[in-house]
Amino acid sequence: MSQKRLEGRIALVSGGLRGIGRAISECLASDGAKVIVTDLDDSEAPDVVAALKAIENTSYIKLDATQEDQWITAREIIQKDYGHLDILVNNVGADLTGKVQDIALADWRRLMTLNVDTVFLGTKTFQPLLAKGGATTPYGSSIINISSIMGLVGMSDVSAYNASKGAVRLFTKSNALEFADAGVPIRVNSVHPGFVETPLLHKGMERWAAREGTTAQSLIDAMAQTTPFKRLAQPVEIGKVVAFLASDDASYMTGSEVVVDGGWTAR
Ligand SMILES: NC(=O)c1ccc[n+]([C@@H]2O[C@H](COP(=O)([O-])OP(=O)(O)OC[C@H]3O[C@@H](n4cnc5c(N)ncnc54)[C@H](O)[C@@H]3O)[C@@H](O)[C@H]2O)c1
Repeated sequence: MSQKRLEGRIALVSGGLRGIGRAISECLASDGAKVIVTDLDDSEAPDVVAALKAIENTSYIKLDATQEDQWITAREIIQKDYGHLDILVNNVGADLTGKVQDIALADWRRLMTLNVDTVFLGTKTFQPLLAKGGATTPYGSSIINISSIMGLVGMSDVSAYNASKGAVRLFTKSNALEFADAGVPIRVNSVHPGFVETPLLHKGMERWAAREGTTAQSLIDAMAQTTPFKRLAQPVEIGKVVAFLASDDASYMTGSEVVVDGGWTAR
């Protein structure tokens, strides 16, 4: 039997219980990785129990990705259990829409904490264990940061989210260069999904619709219509790309931005 491409690799996914993070966890596991799903829920919560049942070779650590002490605790657990890490997916993120005049500073800061601090903290905390993992594999370990098409192009009423996801894009590139220049065996790439059918997207559209006096479904339909493929992505379509970037198949990729958007930014 041929070996799966992530066999023997240890992966951590932040915000891995739902939406894109859940699909990423499933794709990494089906390629053979041991996946440590992390999220906000308690270990005994129904979604955690269901995820552990459904995804093979998985364990769970409760980790609020905005809290440095919780990242450090997760690192201690993984150091003790495995001694290294091979794949880190910084997936946690939230959205915020509205005109600059209407955005409260506290909401802006909360978004930057969720979308930018989490990427910084995951990277900083796990660099030593990823470097250890990378030294034992031919093409290094892999960090994948989930940005967005909104980290590539601007959009009216999306300035806060644009700013946060643009930060993730450039943090990824500097980090990739920092590691390559210093000979640290970690590849770092960002993924830029278009509109993906997840709880985040639905909740965001409900808030936007309430402001505009329309329905979430009509906004979602409009999103599909502005996408060349005329449909939203399914989370697994992002998960498969992340699994590729995590694997040795992406051996020459670092600092790159991988767009998965049904053609949305091709225009
Ligand atoms: N859905 C889209 O259309 C879309 C498009 C482009 C990029 N993205 C990005 O993809 C990522 C995932 O989005 P999604 O749509 O799957 O979101 P989601 O809200 O559906 O799922 C996010 C998961 O993260 C968890 N989470 C939230 N805050 C957390 C925290 N502080 N610590 C740990 N876990 C936390 C949630 O409990 C949930 O399980 C985000 O970074 C988002 O910005 C989403």
